[in-house]
Amino acid sequence: MSIETPEQLEALRATGRVVAEAIRAMRAEVRAGVSTEELDEVGARVFARAGARSGPQLDYGFPGTTCISGNDAAVHGIPGKRRLKDGDLVKLDVTAELDGLYADACVSVPVGRTRGSHIRVAHASREALTSGLLAARAGVAINEIGRAVETTVSSYGYSVCRDLSGHGIGRRIHEEPDVPSFHHPRLNQPLTEGLVITIEPIIAAGKGEVTETGDGWTLRTRDGSCAAHFEHTIVITSAAPIILTARTLRALPGDPAPR
Ligand code: MF3
Ligand code: CO
Ligand code: CO
Repeated sequence: MSIETPEQLEALRATGRVVAEAIRAMRAEVRAGVSTEELDEVGARVFARAGARSGPQLDYGFPGTTCISGNDAAVHGIPGKRRLKDGDLVKLDVTAELDGLYADACVSVPVGRTRGSHIRVAHASREALTSGLLAARAGVAINEIGRAVETTVSSYGYSVCRDLSGHGIGRRIHEEPDVPSFHHPRLNQPLTEGLVITIEPIIAAGKGEVTETGDGWTLRTRDGSCAAHFEHTIVITSAAPIILTARTLRALPGDPAPR
């Protein structure tokens, strides 16, 4: 969607705060031995308290509140009995709907004493997200976001999972336009003020191909390499984007209290 009024921006900020709060609460419980279902329950409680609903459940019938994916599982992992182990890299991908408006964010979290190689791929994804945020401004071609993202990922020697893109968001999870994490030659239309999109480098330490798994949801890297993923929902402006899912928004004086 494209934001037309200050009221819409405030409403979308409220959804963004719920997403950020759910991620904060879930991340605080990440440790060896916790099950992904227990982490999902933590997110579900934050949603319930805020009167928010799970975007993946609403839009796709996803069997969980949030998507939780470990190591070679890149995206759409189903929360369940699996317990995190020391050394895992777990991705918490959280999408909320509040009053009809959606926001989406993801973090990659090391579990216990994680291997340096896992940490490094997480760093690369986070840096790549920052690169994308710095490129995202009204008037810039959409594919310049992907160019910036992939340049950073390549500088680490890692690969973008090209089948998985950022996206427009707002009234549903996935809206126009596609926001790939690489320079797609045809996607050269300019970003416009008010447009709400995600930037989300989903990357692999090895090759970027992903493959479906037997559960019908989880996508894993074909080569079994570790995947990392960071994501924010942002509003395009003529200057720096507004990061709706940034935790720091909550900490500013004058912000409305989280519901
Ligand atoms: N959070 C995912 C994204 O970033 C969307 C998950 S919807 C699901 O696009 F149903 F596929 F899980
Ligand atoms: Co997401
Ligand atoms: Co997304």
